[in-house]
Amino acid sequence: MAETVISTFLNIGRLELERAGIRRDALKEEVAVVTGGASNIGLGYARSLAGAGANVVIADINAEAGAEAARVINEENGRDCALFVKTDVTSDEDIKALAAKAFARFGKVDILINNAMNMRLNGKILESPISDLDRSYAISGRGVALAVKEFVPAMLGRKHGIVTYSATQFHYAPPMIGGTVYCAGKAAATSLIMSLANELGPAGETGVSVFCLCPAGVMRFDPSKMPPPPPPEPGEPERPEFDFEALAKMMTTPEQNGAALVFSLLRAEELHGSGLIHIDVFKAMGHPFSESPTVAAEGVPQFRRLSDMDLAMVFCYMGAGFE
Ligand SMILES: NC(=O)c1ccc[n+]([C@@H]2O[C@H](COP(=O)([O-])OP(=O)(O)OC[C@H]3O[C@@H](n4cnc5c(N)ncnc54)[C@H](O)[C@@H]3O)[C@@H](O)[C@H]2O)c1
Repeated sequence: MAETVISTFLNIGRLELERAGIRRDALKEEVAVVTGGASNIGLGYARSLAGAGANVVIADINAEAGAEAARVINEENGRDCALFVKTDVTSDEDIKALAAKAFARFGKVDILINNAMNMRLNGKILESPISDLDRSYAISGRGVALAVKEFVPAMLGRKHGIVTYSATQFHYAPPMIGGTVYCAGKAAATSLIMSLANELGPAGETGVSVFCLCPAGVMRFDPSKMPPPPPPEPGEPERPEFDFEALAKMMTTPEQNGAALVFSLLRAEELHGSGLIHIDVFKAMGHPFSESPTVAAEGVPQFRRLSDMDLAMVFCYMGAGFE
C-alpha cells in the first residue's frame, strides 16, 4: 500500500504574479480553500492566491508541512491571511470540520481548489493491491465529491463561487508516466467536475463557475543533484542515464502554475465547463514561462477552449505540454 505522501514543501521560489500582470489586490475579499495546499502545486496555488489578496485555507493531510505553509504565507504577505486545517479529504468528518473552521475564521468560502492527491498511488493495476485503487478513487473521486457537496450549496446561495480541479492530461497511462492506478482516480474527479458544470448550468445565471485546470509538468529540481538510475532488475537490460537537464527544461514551477491559476480564476465565468491546460494559459498570458517547444510554438494568444471532443482526445493521449 503506497501510504507515504510526498512533500516538496521547502522547495519554493519567487511568486510570478507581477510578471503575469496580476495585481496584488486582484482577489481581495475572496476566500479560497486549497486541498493538498501544503506542497508543490498546491502550495504554489495557495501562495499565489494570498499574493493576489485572497485569504486561503490550506487543507492537507500533512500537518507539519501544512502548518509551515500557512506560517510562510502569513509572513510573506504581512497579514493573517492563511489558515491550515489538517484534513484528509476522503473523510466526511474532516471536510465538515474544514468547512466549520474556514467559515469561523473567514465567514465564507468563495473558491474551492480541489488539488489533493497522493502521487505515490501510481502503480500498474496488475501489480498494485486493490486498496491502492480504492485510495486513488477515494482521494480523487470521493474527496472532490465531499468538498463540492460541502462548499457549493453556500456558493449557489450567495450566487458567487468558483470550483476547480487539478486534472491531469493523462487519462490513460502512457508508458513513460506509468500509473494506471493514478490515471483512473484522476479521471473520476475530472468527470465529476465537468459534469458538475453541466449540472449547475450557466455560470452567468448561478454565479458559480466550474472548470478543470491541468497543471503542466510541475516539478522543481536541480538536474545536477539527481541520482543515477536504479540498477536493472535481474534479466532487465542496462538502464540508460536519464537526461535530467532536458527534463528540467520541460518542467514548470509551482509559482508559474499559481499565476496561471489566478489568471484563470479572474476569467472563471468565461471558462465555466472547460478543461484547460496550463500551457495554454501561459500562452494566453503572453508569458515566457517555459522554454518548452510547445509553449514557444506559435499559438493563438487567447485561451484555447477545449470542446467535449477535445477533452476526450486530450484525456486519451499525452497532451500539449509533453509532445
Ligand atoms: N506535478 C504535476 O506535474 C501534475 C500534473 C498534472 C496534475 N497534477 C495534479 O496536481 C495535484 C498536485 O500535484 P503535486 O505534484 O503538487 O503533488 P504533491 O504530492 O507534491 O502534493 C499533493 C498534496 O496533497 C496532499 N494530500 C495527499 N493525500 C491527501 C489527502 N487524503 N487529503 C488531503 N491532502 C492530501 C499531500 O500531503 C500533498 O501536500 C495532484 O492532484 C496531481 O494529480 C500534477
